[in-house]
This record gives sequence, structure tokens and C-alpha cells, in this order.
Amino acid sequence: MLDNARRNLDLLIGRRSAFDAPRVPAGAAAAAVRQGLTAWHARAPERYARIFLYAKPLFVQRAERALFAQLASLGLVEKLGASIYQPRVRLFPLYGRFIATDLLTRQEPDQVFSLMFEQVYFVRNFDVRPEDDVLELCLGSGVNSLFAADVARSVTGVDINPRALAFARFNAALGPSPCEIEMHAGSLFEPLDAARRFDTILMNPPFELVPRGETWFLHSDGGEDGLDVVRHMLADVPDRLTPEGRLQLITWSPDTQDGPLLVDAIRAALPEHRVLVHVLDRAPLDAHLEPFRESPAFPAFRQRLAARGIEEVSFLYIHTVPSAVPGVEISSPRAEVETCHALSDPWI
Ligand SMILES: C[S@@+](CC[C@H](N)C(=O)[O-])C[C@H]1O[C@@H](n2cnc3c(N)ncnc32)[C@H](O)[C@@H]1O
Repeated sequence: MLDNARRNLDLLIGRRSAFDAPRVPAGAAAAAVRQGLTAWHARAPERYARIFLYAKPLFVQRAERALFAQLASLGLVEKLGASIYQPRVRLFPLYGRFIATDLLTRQEPDQVFSLMFEQVYFVRNFDVRPEDDVLELCLGSGVNSLFAADVARSVTGVDINPRALAFARFNAALGPSPCEIEMHAGSLFEPLDAARRFDTILMNPPFELVPRGETWFLHSDGGEDGLDVVRHMLADVPDRLTPEGRLQLITWSPDTQDGPLLVDAIRAALPEHRVLVHVLDRAPLDAHLEPFRESPAFPAFRQRLAARGIEEVSFLYIHTVPSAVPGVEISSPRAEVETCHALSDPWI
């Protein structure tokens, strides 16, 4: 297991009493809640957004009471007073599904990752085919796997964070879901049988650049250059893909004058693949380092990155395909980026 992840998990020992992921609904209850949510979201999108996206308490009207009693029984909301409810989760409406994640106020390292632009881009653009056995590493809320399951033959997901798996189980049960997702707790490929291979491996890994010794969210702690978890994955990925297997990631990568470091690492790991790169955004390094500016470790950390020529970070969707003509193809799909922002910006 990765050192940072082990330290962050250790911090949670003894805090398990705060474990309050939503309760997994039985089939009929799941369908009733999903239908109730769908109708309410269509009828009252501002009220829906107030409680489930912006995390504000809601004065529940008479016609909403039955739905809120169901939502409370699953642990999605909590009754504060006569008709006032507060959220216990964020609940993102996306293409007929509702995906629960943690509130942003949960500061423990096991906070379950919210939805934003990246998952919208991923589920709209990933290349998942009906004959695929798919593996998603870093499953989180399960959002990507749930949409992959609409297409693929089978989907398996792995996450190191038990709380993320509990949310993923809830989200899968809420449905609608045509195929079961096999879920495993553990680091990357560790919990999987050594012989298993996949046609598609999906990953939205932890990607933030974090000074050593800092405690940070499991969902975002990518180590000093943001690539720790991805590098561990790349060491094993050649043995985990079928001969025609494809690797697909959405993530930020440190960037030098010679290009994103992640693209070099992928080319080294999969020399017989063509690497298709969509550049979705680019930002100055310092904008990403902001949360750590006050850390005593910051000056030396910043200097080490500068010494490697890292001054920017790029937001990338990367898709590798086995090919007789390996190499890199770079594009910037502006219209699609705008479409995904239009869908996800209202969630911020
Ligand atoms: C950026 S979040 C992405 C979650 C989800 N796939 C999504 O797109 O919303 C990264 C996830 O990786 C998980 N994670 C971190 N280190 C891991 C590791 N070594 N093995 C498996 N999962 C890990 C975190 O718990 C978190 O759920």
C-alpha cells in the first residue's frame, strides 16, 4: 500500500463511530425513492439544489413530507425541527441517476469525492464497449462504474477507502442498474486475483500535489508531484490489460516545457500503445499548491518542483489503445468541454 494512503487510513482508526454512509435500500424502496427524487427534482429544481447541491437546510412543504421521511430513513437527510431538514450527503442528478457523495464539510481524510466537471467528461467520453470486462481503480462514489455498467459485460471496482465503497454500494442499489458491480476494498490491483485481466481500465486517481508529511484527503493525495498513485498503477498495468485492452484516465498532470509528465510515464509503461490525449484545462502550478502555502514544508517542496521544471499542471483525459503505430495524439475538444461545464457548473 502507498505510504500516504496508509497514514491517512491510520488517522481514521478510532473514528469509525462517525461512520454514517447512507443505508443501502432494498429493491422496492430504492425504486420508490428514485422515482420520488426524479419527480421532485423535475418539479422543484431550485429546492432540490438548495439542499442536495448547496447543502442548505430546507423547510419542507406538506407535499414533500412523505419523500423526506423516506430520504431520512436512508440517512440522506436529517430532521432538524418540525419541517426543517438538513442534508447528510450531496446528491448529484446525472442522466437519470442520483449519485451520493459526502458533504464538503466532512474534513476527515475519508471524505467521499464530490462530482464535478471531470466525472461528466469521463462518463460522456470514455470508450466502454458491450464486450468489455471493465476495472475501475479508485472507485469513489462509483459514478463512473455505474455508467460503464450500462454498456459493459462486467464491471469491477476497487477503492482503498471503506467509506467510498459504502457510498458506491448505496449508489449502485439506488439504481437503475442493469449489472452488478463487483467491489473490492484495497490498494489498486492488490485485492484482485493475480490472473485477472481487463479490456478497459478506468481511473480518476488522487492527483493533487501534496508536500510529504501533510495529511490530506485520500481522494486527492497524489504525493509530491501528484503522480504517486498513478505511477504505482502503471507498474502493474501491462499485466492487467488483455492484449487489446485500453487504459483510460482523467486527471491532472504536472507539466514541463517538454509536456505533461504523465504522458511520458504512460508511454514508458505501455510502449506498444497509441496514447490519445484530450487537453481539458491548464493552470499555473501555484494555483494548485494554494492549500499548502502555510505548511512549513512548502518552500522546499515548491523548490523541488521548480527544479524539475514543473510550473504548470494540465487537466487531461488519456486513452491508450494497442497499436502498430505507437505515439501520442493531442487534441483540445473545446465544444465538449463547454458542454460538460454547462452540466456541472451549476453543482458548484
Ligand atoms: C479522485 S477520487 C475519484 C473517485 C471516483 N472514481 C470519481 O471519479 O468520482 C480518487 C479515489 O481514489 C481512492 N484511492 C486513493 N488511493 C487509492 C489506492 N491506492 N487504491 C485504490 N483507491 C485509492 C480514494 O479513496 C478516492 O475514492
